[in-house]
Amino acid sequence: MRNKVIAGNWKMNKVLSEADQFAVSVTGKLPKDDSVEAIVCAPFPFLPSLVEKAKGSNLKVGAQNMHFEDSGAFTGEVSPAMLQDLGVTHVVIGHSERREHFAETDESVNKKVHAAFNHDLIPIVCVGETLEQREANETMSHIESQVRTGLRHLSDEQIGSVIIAYEPIWAIGTGKTASSSDADQVCSLIRSVIKDMTSENVAEQVVIQYGGSVKATNIDELLDQPDIDGALVGGASLDPESFLQLVEAGTK
Ligand code: 13P
Repeated sequence: MRNKVIAGNWKMNKVLSEADQFAVSVTGKLPKDDSVEAIVCAPFPFLPSLVEKAKGSNLKVGAQNMHFEDSGAFTGEVSPAMLQDLGVTHVVIGHSERREHFAETDESVNKKVHAAFNHDLIPIVCVGETLEQREANETMSHIESQVRTGLRHLSDEQIGSVIIAYEPIWAIGTGKTASSSDADQVCSLIRSVIKDMTSENVAEQVVIQYGGSVKATNIDELLDQPDIDGALVGGASLDPESFLQLVEAGTK
């Protein structure tokens, strides 16, 4: 039985005082049972303070990106070693906004996933199709190729602890959500690709999230689907009450 994992992706929002206020508001109110994991993936400047404020609570803190090298002449970049040293536990890798605006590829995603495991960080690997790909019936082949390349040369044990976020690009920030059965169909395909790459046991362990306009009013239906184990949430994760409602949905 897989636990539900609800992760907020704040993207480039808030200032430090607002991030701190969020942590103060939610840490005492998160569900105590471990059937649901709550993660907030925040901009780099907030991470040390969030890690500090989350101590002793059920809130985990993740980053939204990182470089794949440990150190070096990469002006403006943040390394996996830096995140590990801060006490960050998760890192979003290959979000479609990074692929679109910052030239991330399946190859760089794969390097970053390996780097994450080398530093005990759990990667949240994002995959998803554009509207054009969906309309051209290319969703399944595109997602399969993203999963196969993104997870290339990992051990079965590593693949078993990856979190995959299926985020159809046309559903991100648009208010359009994939229907729960369409979303589940793609998540089920992802699981069968992983089974083919590893084994049934490993495929059954992998947490697969849906992302794209998830909010308190549609999360229950999404989480009811057999292959959707959580959500990666942008806009609706910014407000503490809304985030708490989403996490609460994971306990049902
Ligand atoms: P929204 O929930 O704002 O649509 O964003 C989804 C997303 O990109 C999470 O990573």
